[in-house]
Amino acid sequence: MTERDTHRVIPLQDLRTSALPLPTASLMPSGAVEPNGLLTDLFSRALRDLRISVTDRCNFRCSYCMPKAIFDKDYAYLPHSELLNFEEITRLARQFVAHGVQKIRLTGGEPLLRKNLEQLIAQLAALRTPEGRPLDLTLTTNGALLARKAAALKAAGLQRITVSLDGLDDAVFRAMNDVDFPVADVLAGIDAALAAGLGPIKINMVVKRGTNEHQILPMARHFRGSGMVLRLIEYMDVGATNGWRMNDVLPSREVVQRIHADMPLVQLEPSNPGETAQRWGYADAQGRHDTAAGEIGVISSVTQAFCADCNRARLSTEGQLYLCLFAEQGYDLRRLLRGNSSDADLASAIGRIWHARTDRYSALRSAAAPDTGTGARRVEMSYIGG
Ligand code: GTP
Ligand code: 5AD
Ligand code: SF4
Ligand code: SF4
Repeated sequence: MTERDTHRVIPLQDLRTSALPLPTASLMPSGAVEPNGLLTDLFSRALRDLRISVTDRCNFRCSYCMPKAIFDKDYAYLPHSELLNFEEITRLARQFVAHGVQKIRLTGGEPLLRKNLEQLIAQLAALRTPEGRPLDLTLTTNGALLARKAAALKAAGLQRITVSLDGLDDAVFRAMNDVDFPVADVLAGIDAALAAGLGPIKINMVVKRGTNEHQILPMARHFRGSGMVLRLIEYMDVGATNGWRMNDVLPSREVVQRIHADMPLVQLEPSNPGETAQRWGYADAQGRHDTAAGEIGVISSVTQAFCADCNRARLSTEGQLYLCLFAEQGYDLRRLLRGNSSDADLASAIGRIWHARTDRYSALRSAAAPDTGTGARRVEMSYIGG
């Protein structure tokens, strides 16, 4: 055993095992909460986006998300019996949709590692909003299994896909995924997704100063005019294991300046309320948006928090409802599912939980301690989903 093994960091308390008590009826005007598609929280923020984590496992070890020193061969992933099954996920999703959710994103870990995921996609694709519309059904993947699975995902009813890709240079990419996975295989996965009709495709790049910042321009040039939207994400202090420091964050303002100096940009209007990304279009010779060249997005969760209209709820792999990416605990919906609760009980619980929501972590962090993480012990992104 090496010295490093004997000094491995072991979390003091596993936040996954503790849950918040469900809010009581006293937080609501009345006991039952009938879903009417109009649920809002204490800051009048609607519930529109549900992100469902279908596995806490991943075949990559990105240092900003699942650092190898923690997520090693001894790491205790959730046993299969703890995971929500597809019927349970769909039953809950139906109640969320009745409350106003219009977009469902499947995440992980790496969602394509979940067996028979196509079955779940088919079940979710059959859901309809109260107005009778299908959901915006999408998925975030690292792309490793995409070449093999794209056609089946589309056939099951998945509409579009987002691929995480932190660089085009093979050595940089292999180092960032930390499992020596070649970039060519992810690019082949993206091609397969395009061919299968899983567009519009978004490409998410987490930018770490000093690590992949020199990949910004090659990535922007590569995806310009491709119909795909590159989004550059500020490295966040999410979870408690990635050793986040403000010095590692390259503010979006600088990212935009660097791309603009090479390929002029014009700011675009938001396409949806509560959107994570600020949009910038490539400019033509007259300084107008050249739609053929397309656009990029920057996601500035560290330097410009977007909590004010955050409409995102997160359902963890074993059925805990998290109201914020940075929450320390979730609400145990699985206990209700596996108890005797009716659909109306589930809808009421979701209604009460969202109604009492006050979370706005990023906004508070920017106001209080912009340069340091709060040091709070939060759940990992690989468990609650990006
Ligand atoms: P689209 O509907 O395709 O625009 O997706 P999205 O931007 O809503 O979701 P996506 O998962 O692609 O988000 C991109 C990245 O933004 C994530 O990987 C996170 O790094 C970050 N992000 C997403 N949602 C939140 C959020 O609610 N809070 C914070 N702080 N960051 C978020
Ligand atoms: N900061 C920003 N984004 C992160 N992701 C994971 N960890 C972080 C972090 N620390 C996001 C990336 C990745 C998705 C799965 O989760 O966008 O593409
Ligand atoms: Fe896996 Fe995505 Fe996390 Fe990387 S960022 S370790 S690919 S879940
Ligand atoms: Fe929403 Fe929390 Fe992210 Fe703010 S920090 S945008 S409240 S998930």
